[in-house]
Amino acid sequence: MQRAWASIDLVALQRNLSIAKQAAPQSKLLAVIKADGYGHGLCQVAEALQAADGFGVACLQEAIKLREAGIQKTILLLEGVFSPEELKWVERYKLSMVVHQVQQLEWLEQLADSRDCLISTWLKLDTGMHRLGFSAAQFVEAEARLKSCAAVDGDITVMSHFANADLPTHPANQQQLSLLNALSKTSPKSMANSAALLALPQSHFDWVRPGIMLFGCSPFAEWPAEGCELHPVMTLKARLFEIKSLKKGDAIGYGGGWVSPEDMKVGVVSIGYGDGYPRHAANGTPVWINGYECSLAGRVSMDMICVDLRNYPDAQCGDEAVLWGAGLAIERVAAAAGTIGYELLCGITPRVKLEYLRVSDGQG
Ligand SMILES: Cc1ncc(COP(=O)(O)O)c(C=O)c1O
Repeated sequence: MQRAWASIDLVALQRNLSIAKQAAPQSKLLAVIKADGYGHGLCQVAEALQAADGFGVACLQEAIKLREAGIQKTILLLEGVFSPEELKWVERYKLSMVVHQVQQLEWLEQLADSRDCLISTWLKLDTGMHRLGFSAAQFVEAEARLKSCAAVDGDITVMSHFANADLPTHPANQQQLSLLNALSKTSPKSMANSAALLALPQSHFDWVRPGIMLFGCSPFAEWPAEGCELHPVMTLKARLFEIKSLKKGDAIGYGGGWVSPEDMKVGVVSIGYGDGYPRHAANGTPVWINGYECSLAGRVSMDMICVDLRNYPDAQCGDEAVLWGAGLAIERVAAAAGTIGYELLCGITPRVKLEYLRVSDGQG
């Protein structure tokens, strides 16, 4: 019997991709699947997202894994290369790369100029996030240098990244867009992550770059995924494997941080922070058992959590617990743990088995 597992609904993933494509019908779509496909399994996710126009990843290892799994579409290294040696792998695996700093430009300029295949690049402009990218003052020269670089394909896509797209009315979004439009008038452009794809159509340009929405998680700070009609892809599950009858006043778990307010049953569920369940989840974090909403009681341990069973006193050892996913929005769990769905999804550890659902269950 499995102690903790995640079912990955690839049909839901494909439906979310369709929603993204319908929302930005004129743009090409780069599915951002870094960090092991946001914890869902890099290659399985890429294979299911055949209708995307390309994939965005964070590093060479992820890109090579995709190519070696037979993915032939554009694969973009979102942070470019981290050393000049990595360029030979970019060439060998026909990858595309972001150029966001002078050093990367120099590495490209140092390549010999007679090549079978020119490197495809996306030039990153810092429009206000102040993390990666050339400043407005550096941009024109950087673009000219990249265009005249003998090893580089002259068709350069100009990209930038929003700092506040999860709050669509934030004034910084318009400022960032204006700067991109002012500095890049003719090249293809890319700006929109999931939140911008759904809420800022003026940012769609030539390529949209959704990540989190594909996995059925809301990209908005104050708007749940159902509001965007997204379907959760990962449902994280474990088992109820012990039930204790406690007396009023009994304290539970490390530090005794939860005390029974009455005589009651508490269940022990086979998942903990060693599986990626967040240790900072607060008392009261929702946990579903057999479809009944129960709640976390006491501190999260490495391998288990305790659950207040007063909402479901008939619970039995062996019952299935849902920690997030279908029926229990990950945003609720993330809020109770002081984090975001992104972190929960990426934090699942290898001891959680991923089980893939590839065909529709017929329930629409
Ligand atoms: C450059 C870039 N574009 C797009 C995305 C996708 O963002 P989201 O998951 O919010 O859609 C990311 C993710 O962090 C990113 O770093």
